[in-house]
Amino acid sequence: MSIIFDSETQTFHLQTKHTSYIMQIVKSKYLVQVHWGRKVRGTNPGSLLAYRKRCSFSPSTDPEDLAISLDTLPLELPAFGASDFRVPAYQVQLDNGTTVSELIYESHRIYPGKPRLEGLPATYVEEDGEAVSLDIVLTDKLIGLKAVLTYTVFRDADAITRSVRYVNESGGNIRLLRALSVSVDFPHPDFDMLHLHGSWARERHIERRPLTTGGATIESRRGSSSHSVNPFVALLSKDADEDHGDVYGFSLVYSGSFLAQAEIDPYSTTRVVMGINPFDFAWLLEPGEAFQAPEAVLVYSAEGLGGMSRTYHKLYRTRLCRGEYRDKSRPVLVNNWEATYFNFNADKIEEIAKVGQQLGLELFVLDDGWFGKRDNDKSSLGDWFVDGNKLPKGLEDLVERVNKLDLQFGLWFEPEMISPDSELYRAHPDWCLHVPGRRRTEARQQLILDYSRQDVREYIVKVVSDILASCPISYVKWDMNRNMTEIGSALLPPERQRETAHRYMLGLYEVLERITSAFPHILFESCSGGGGRFDPGMLYYMPQTWTSDNTDAVERLKIQYGTSIVYPISSIGAHVSAVPNHQVHRTTPIEMRGHVAMSGNFGYELDLTKFTEEEKAIVAQQVATYKELRPLIQFGDFYRLLSPFEGNETAWMFVSEDRSEALVAFFQVLSKPNAPLAKLRVKGLDPDKDYRVVEVEVADAEERLFGGDELMNVGLHLPQWKGDFRSRLYRFIAQ
Ligand code: DGJ
Repeated sequence: MSIIFDSETQTFHLQTKHTSYIMQIVKSKYLVQVHWGRKVRGTNPGSLLAYRKRCSFSPSTDPEDLAISLDTLPLELPAFGASDFRVPAYQVQLDNGTTVSELIYESHRIYPGKPRLEGLPATYVEEDGEAVSLDIVLTDKLIGLKAVLTYTVFRDADAITRSVRYVNESGGNIRLLRALSVSVDFPHPDFDMLHLHGSWARERHIERRPLTTGGATIESRRGSSSHSVNPFVALLSKDADEDHGDVYGFSLVYSGSFLAQAEIDPYSTTRVVMGINPFDFAWLLEPGEAFQAPEAVLVYSAEGLGGMSRTYHKLYRTRLCRGEYRDKSRPVLVNNWEATYFNFNADKIEEIAKVGQQLGLELFVLDDGWFGKRDNDKSSLGDWFVDGNKLPKGLEDLVERVNKLDLQFGLWFEPEMISPDSELYRAHPDWCLHVPGRRRTEARQQLILDYSRQDVREYIVKVVSDILASCPISYVKWDMNRNMTEIGSALLPPERQRETAHRYMLGLYEVLERITSAFPHILFESCSGGGGRFDPGMLYYMPQTWTSDNTDAVERLKIQYGTSIVYPISSIGAHVSAVPNHQVHRTTPIEMRGHVAMSGNFGYELDLTKFTEEEKAIVAQQVATYKELRPLIQFGDFYRLLSPFEGNETAWMFVSEDRSEALVAFFQVLSKPNAPLAKLRVKGLDPDKDYRVVEVEVADAEERLFGGDELMNVGLHLPQWKGDFRSRLYRFIAQ
């Protein structure tokens, strides 16, 4: 890892173990990109940027050198209006109404470590020796705008982070109309674009399509990263697949509305920009004020998508997630949501917990319905006081009863919301996001608290903290069940109304920081109607996320496979639920439901008291197996083998860091008549080691010995099954 500035060639060379990112200052003015990709030793003048004079439609800014055109230079932070016609990274508006600006190189600084981003989540280092950073200052002297571009390279990750701080150094106001985090210009257009899309109960499905003229835009306008898209895109060389080819990943550490856009220009270069969505955004910078754009994490992989994913997994698991649970095994839990919904009392909860204890579970989570008068989803959000009808002896009593069974206790909150039917709303009708005189659109009969307001934040921090301090709570599920509408704040002046959505995010991050740091022993899991906010921003505060409200084993194959493109397995919540499944009404066997859920942070979300004795025996075995394999699954390297988006079979595997142990999970959705004899080639093993292969949870399974090279190059015979929805786990132990 290093960052070197060569004053002769005026180049910055950022190096990670396997990648190079090279920039050049052209004509002592413009900061441009030269290369991002495979590592090179250095840059000789011959490999620097080539220029050509173009037609008058790409004008030059330099009468002495007509080859210099902002419309063709691969600029690091491009603007609109001063002759670059491509998609810009930022745009400002001055008091005089004009919107033109041009940023020129002024200075730079290289230093050890990585700075924090004020008020925003970001990757971090634990000691300065883990990273080197570079600040490059660009200025537009005419209007007094400064942009500080910060880059970091890591010793232990092939990733480069970028962020921008926009500063108003003028005597007047500067309004940011667009303040993106990153722009990269690639010298050719031969890419596919891959992104993750979906909806509630169908999150993070993979879509790959050729990039063509006209480009592609992936954006959320929902006030959250959302179920429909994810703040991630990748450009892939046409030949790239899971294991080979060039992949360039862009991941934004942000949980609000975002934009990712790729554009091919007339000279066949490709520009990718990413950041806070400029749609319905503006930010007023008064003299001396600054705006910090979120961090973008860039990963180049020469080893296909799998290589890119493993880099994100490790970086996000170890240097984005924080807190006591970052490196700790996550407990096997039972959640009562699909077991009881709102209809429970302390005795019912204790009954479920008792069976949980017999089965070896470690944590009971009390979901929605324990507060206010919440017997359905029509009321009480905001009234974070225990419902005396359901829990007459209080929460303390219930927690004690659950703890006595040797289970930890977890609790659900939805602290960003307010029900119109609540004490809180009756007392503070202006505490929600709203626009004067306009309808307040309800979703699930609820409105959104205005987290841009300090008084709202103080109230929430206090009521949530009071509950958390009242008894031994070991886990919190932090839910959020709607998107933003009528985005306005009663406290912001007219010229700042378009700041509301981002101020909300900053407020949310402040609340999360305060609560999670005040309760370091609690494991926090974020949730937004399942995976509506499964993003790096939330992972900074909460190391795991409820992946989807869809717990059907077949649907989960796609959801978990897609989620693994960016997010580590230790962040993926996965539970076994009852059949017929509540979302799709499909009936799958307990074995497959178990094996899919065991491929993440494992748990059950059903009424355990309804299990037959036979089912209980299977579940107890699943829990025991998971506990034994947990470090490998939660913290091992993840390899995707067969994609559920491409066929009837899915397979993935987990490999320990020293390659002494591995686990393969194989799933077949529908039975195939007279099926071919199939083999599965695995990945990531040590070719020189021999592995004992054990079929997990198969009573009379034979153990066999294979070479690592054999398993990877010849493959493992797959079972022939009659019947749908079948699965098998294979454990590999190096000899
Ligand atoms: C949505 C979540 O995704 C569910 O798991 C559950 O917690 C409900 N909210 C409760 O209202």
